[in-house]
Amino acid sequence: MGPFEFYNPTKLFFGKGKLSTLKTEVPKYGQKVLLVYGGGSIKRSGLYDQVVSLLGECGAEVTELSGVEPNPRLSTVHQGVELCRKHHIDLILAVGGGSVLDCSKAIAVGAKYEGDMWDFVERKAVPQNALPLGTVLTMAATGSEMNGGSVITNEATKEKMGWGSKLAYPAFSILDPVHTFSLPKDQTVYGMVDIMSHVLEHYFHLDTNTPIQDGFCETILRTVIETAPKLIDDLENFELRETIMYCGTMALNDMISMGLRGDWATHNIEHAVSAVYDIPHGGGLAILFPNWMTYNIDVNPERFKRLAVNVFGVDEAGKTDKEAGLEGIQALRDFWTSIGAPSTLADYDIDGSDIEVMADKAVRFGPFGNFRKLQREDAVEIYKMSL
Ligand code: NZQ
Ligand code: ZN
Repeated sequence: MGPFEFYNPTKLFFGKGKLSTLKTEVPKYGQKVLLVYGGGSIKRSGLYDQVVSLLGECGAEVTELSGVEPNPRLSTVHQGVELCRKHHIDLILAVGGGSVLDCSKAIAVGAKYEGDMWDFVERKAVPQNALPLGTVLTMAATGSEMNGGSVITNEATKEKMGWGSKLAYPAFSILDPVHTFSLPKDQTVYGMVDIMSHVLEHYFHLDTNTPIQDGFCETILRTVIETAPKLIDDLENFELRETIMYCGTMALNDMISMGLRGDWATHNIEHAVSAVYDIPHGGGLAILFPNWMTYNIDVNPERFKRLAVNVFGVDEAGKTDKEAGLEGIQALRDFWTSIGAPSTLADYDIDGSDIEVMADKAVRFGPFGNFRKLQREDAVEIYKMSL
């Protein structure tokens, strides 16, 4: 293990009926609330009415920012910052999926900064202050409900980049699996691919003596693999939604990162794809991750074999580590295809014409990835393998 510090200040309320916690949590931060949500799913599901009613019960004065896009845009963050300043907002309440949460995190730090929030994304400045943020999650995927990360798209420059801050952790997050019942099958699948990808980003590390961390990773992966086929046929099953929601939070709330440095190259090359083509993040990962794995198997074939054996039940007898590892990669590909995830960029009508543009974006901050440092030409190769 490497030396580490652990800090996660988010208060988590998990389970049926936990929405009512809003009544005790919200008043702790003040009266003026900016309610942030997406394109309308919370109105259709009835969650919006419940939230507004509970906010009314605690005497909150509510200002709304609606229409946050999947792959949230900087211009929407700017709108939110303006609303916070104009209405002297005390608390931001994000109700939605990762995009709504990420946008709200950007608003929270932007409202307390005189310059443009994009400075934080470009690493030109570091957040020094933030408005408090509460969240009500409606989609299991990003882990944004219990981490300090956020991903924002600058639509003017077609850049999509992550940033993070200790100040961006939600003060509290409410996770009731019932709020994910209305999530359609395709988004449910994207969410599960994202969750598995977060685990895989951790799993491919170079640290030693990490039996607990590796075991946690394998357990989360096996759990998603066991649950996913049942859930896509039974979208309103509480226990299945609950399991996946818990997996999503555990996959990216720093618990499995202790003592190791994950890779994160695949997320980087995916963000470059969704910056240019505005595709769902989980869909992009399903296409790219198996190709990143194949491309990098020689870095440590034993690790790929371990994944194959412990997660996919590959029989290693008579095989080299690499042979068993390649079988595991194929099993991952087959599993994602079996639940309806895409497997090639062509599935999104993406041809090779923008590969160079995407590769430029992937190396925006230089060589990337920790399992193996990738250069621009490596990104090009992985995109080509993914066509
Ligand atoms: O906008 P609405 O109408 O709410 O609809 C959304 C959206 O169209 C819909 N949806 C969400 N919950 C629903 C629902 N529809 C019906 N019922 C519900 N209960 O689903 C669509 C996708 O939502 P979105 O929030 O975009 O999905 P997700 O949670 O996957 O977030 C994706 C964004 O998060 C970033 C991604 O890059 C992408 O921009 N990420 C953020 C991370 C983080 N903060 O730690 C890490 C991730 O790796 C990821 O990069
Ligand atoms: Zn992700």
